[in-house]
Amino acid sequence: MQNQNDISRKEFIRQVGIMGAIASFFPPGLMAGSSEDIKKIRIGVIGCGSVSGQYFPHLSKSPYVTLVSACDIVEERAKSAAAKYAIPNYYPSIEKMLAGAEFDLLVNLTNMQEHGRLNKIGLDSGKNIWSEKPMANSYMEGKSLMDLAKKKNLKIWGAPAVIMSPQFAFMSKAVQEGKLGKVSAAHAHYGHLGPTWSAFFYEKLGGSMPDLAVYNMATLTGLLGPVKSVVAMLNIITPTRKVDNRNAPIKVEEEDNSMVLMEHASGALSHVQSGFNYFDPYGHEGSGQDKPTISIWGTKGNMQLIGYDWAPTGVDMATEEHEKTQRFATDTGSFVWQQGASAISESMSKGVDPIITTLHSLHVLEIIEAARKSQATGTRIQLKSNFKWPLV
Ligand SMILES: NC(=O)c1ccc[n+]([C@@H]2O[C@H](COP(=O)([O-])OP(=O)(O)OC[C@H]3O[C@@H](n4cnc5c(N)ncnc54)[C@H](O)[C@@H]3O)[C@@H](O)[C@H]2O)c1
Repeated sequence: MQNQNDISRKEFIRQVGIMGAIASFFPPGLMAGSSEDIKKIRIGVIGCGSVSGQYFPHLSKSPYVTLVSACDIVEERAKSAAAKYAIPNYYPSIEKMLAGAEFDLLVNLTNMQEHGRLNKIGLDSGKNIWSEKPMANSYMEGKSLMDLAKKKNLKIWGAPAVIMSPQFAFMSKAVQEGKLGKVSAAHAHYGHLGPTWSAFFYEKLGGSMPDLAVYNMATLTGLLGPVKSVVAMLNIITPTRKVDNRNAPIKVEEEDNSMVLMEHASGALSHVQSGFNYFDPYGHEGSGQDKPTISIWGTKGNMQLIGYDWAPTGVDMATEEHEKTQRFATDTGSFVWQQGASAISESMSKGVDPIITTLHSLHVLEIIEAARKSQATGTRIQLKSNFKWPLV
């Protein structure tokens, strides 16, 4: 996860490796352009900043995707993405993109605060949506987008794609099969020193929860089920920051340090720790992170996810039957966090439901909102949303 203008040699090699893994993942003859019987999903991408440098290479290799348009309010970015990835159209605004070449799926990679507004414009114009997180600025806004999509027979899905990894599938199966006994507790953490390129991460409705904790929240709710109530402490550790797209230092207005406690409907209590003030030698790429970032304890076993949940490398498990910790799920070739929009396109093309659901994304959004309410009021906040669980 890094600025597209700053791709290191190491990152280039990693991305080429990911492409190789993707190529070997698809059966021969199914890579882009090689088969005519695949229904291609026409995509318009809005937001050609840092994360687009991760999405475009993946989308442009997908046999289920035709990249139709790129759009950014900084037109130069849309233009150079179009040139780099052979996209026939580029536009400086969503209005111009929607009035231009036809497409099926709007991939929204803009500033977090813009997601809800742009997703609504997309739905109003008859587009399905894949949105970077969060899909809206509030649970109610997100729910109204889901209702609008339903009314118009469209779909809206939100990142992250962490529940698509083989490591998540392994952990989910182990929990469901009772390998850990009664699950009582879990902990997850994700942090670094914060994005350096854009101010929106630190402005109102930015913050480390929708940017970072969201991954752990999706994983833990995916593994342990819906959350009933939330208690949180949030604060700001670094009150001013220097970012690339502002001349003067900016004031940090949303949490950059968060501790969120979740009570799951199952009775398990879990904890997500995240922030923009963690010394982190693994950088935005996360490569080299070989320690557990997620731990789960039950009455008959415990389990740790090795690496970040968006770049996992294995699962360690110890159980009553096998007390010595063993490592499982070491496949690192079939999942990358950048695959969300490509995976959704594949589901749309095949007419099947993806494992990622709108209700799950909305539940995570409600947790983030509840954590802020808990911090503001010093109270425990009850949640109202739910999602179909287990996922795997
Ligand atoms: N950068 C990463 O590594 C990374 C990884 C995973 C997820 N994300 C998520 O992706 C989203 C974008 O992050 P980023 O790091 O790419 O930010 P960024 O600032 O690099 O890119 C955002 C782009 O959106 C454009 N934009 C903003 N408002 C727009 C509008 N109304 N219409 C058209 N274009 C508009 C901006 O000009 C900019 O080019 C965020 O939700 C972030 O949490 C980022």
